[in-house]
Amino acid sequence: PREDNEPLYAVLAKADRFYREALRSHPKRNAAVDYLRQRGISGEVAAQFGIGFAPPGWNNLLKHLDAPQDAIKAGLIIERDGKTYDRFRDRITFPIHDRRGRVVAFGARVVTDGEPKYLNSPESPIFQKGREIYGLYHALQAQRRIERLIVVEGYMDVIALTQAGIPGAVATLGTATTREQALLLLRSAPEVVLCFDGDSAGQGAAFRAAENLLPVLQGDRQVRVMILPQGSDPDDLIRQDGREAFENRLNNASPVIELYLSHLHSDCDLATVDGRTRMLERASGLLKRIPDGILRETLLGRLADLTHTDPQRIDNLCRSQPPKSS
Ligand code: UTP
Ligand code: MN
Ligand code: MN
Ligand code: MN
Ligand code: MN
Repeated sequence: PREDNEPLYAVLAKADRFYREALRSHPKRNAAVDYLRQRGISGEVAAQFGIGFAPPGWNNLLKHLDAPQDAIKAGLIIERDGKTYDRFRDRITFPIHDRRGRVVAFGARVVTDGEPKYLNSPESPIFQKGREIYGLYHALQAQRRIERLIVVEGYMDVIALTQAGIPGAVATLGTATTREQALLLLRSAPEVVLCFDGDSAGQGAAFRAAENLLPVLQGDRQVRVMILPQGSDPDDLIRQDGREAFENRLNNASPVIELYLSHLHSDCDLATVDGRTRMLERASGLLKRIPDGILRETLLGRLADLTHTDPQRIDNLCRSQPPKSS
C-alpha cells in the first residue's frame, strides 16, 4: 500500500536537504565545491539538479536522523553486524527524482579520485533502477514540451549538457536501457538520441538500448544514435568542442536501425554461410518482438540484402522458432 512508503520519501527528502546544505556550509565542503567548479558547473545548475555533499565520517547523516529504520530501508544507512553507518561518505551527491519530483535514491561520486568512482543507492520499495530515468524530471520542468531527449550514461553528462545550454539530457542509471525505460523515453518526446560513451561499453549499451527501443518504436517517433569519438563521453566532448559542434553531431546522428545492423554486422562475417546464419539467428530474437509494420519490413529487407536471403524466408524462420525460454 502506498502510504507505507511515505516514511521512505520523507527520510530521502530529509537526506536531500542535509546533503545540499552541507555543500553550502559544511566546514569540509571546499574540495567538493572546487571540484564542481573545476568541472565547469555553475552554482545555478548545481542547485537545479540538487547536487549536494556527503561529508567525510561514518555518521553525519545518522546523527541528523531521529531513528535509522526508514533510512536503512531507503538505502541511506547501512546496517551490518549490529552496527549502523552512512552509506555515502566524502562524496558529491546527485539526487535521483521520480517523475513527480520526489527524491527516490542518490548517486554519489568521489570528490577527486578513488574507487568506486560512483556509488548508488540500492534498490528499495520506491527505487527500481530499470524504471527511473535520471534528469527526466528536470527536463520536464525546464520545457513544457520536450522536443528531443538525449540519452547519456552518466550524471555528469546530463549536467554538462544542461550547463552548456543543450536541453533534454537524461541518463539511464548505469544499466542497460530496459523495455520500461524505452517506453517511457518514447512516450516523453517525439525524438530520442542515444549518446553513449565512445568506448566498447558505450557501444554495447547503445546496441542493447536499440534492442529494447526498436520493438516499441512507432511511426511518429524517431530514435537516432550519435557515435562519439573513441574515448570521449558527452561531457568531455561538449567541453572540448563547444555547443555548436555538439549540436551538429546530434543533428547528424544515424537512425537506430543502422546502428543495430552495423553492430550485428561487425560481429558476423557475412562472407561465410556461418556468419550469415549467425546474423539471422541473432536478428530473429528482435524480429519476433517487432510488430508488423514499416519498421519490421525495413529490417527484413535490409537483412535480406545483407545475407542474400529471401525476406519471406527470414520471416518464416523467425516465426517458426520457438520463443526463448526465459
Ligand atoms: P563512467 O565510468 O562513464 O563515468 O560512468 P565517467 O565519465 O568516468 O565519470 P566522470 O565524468 O569522471 O564523473 C557513467 C555512469 O555509470 C555509472 C554512473 O551512473 C556514472 O554516471 N557508474 C559508473 C556507476 O554506477 N558506478 C561506477 O563505478 C562507475
Ligand atoms: Mn569511467
Ligand atoms: Mn564509460
Ligand atoms: Mn565523464
Ligand atoms: Mn563517461
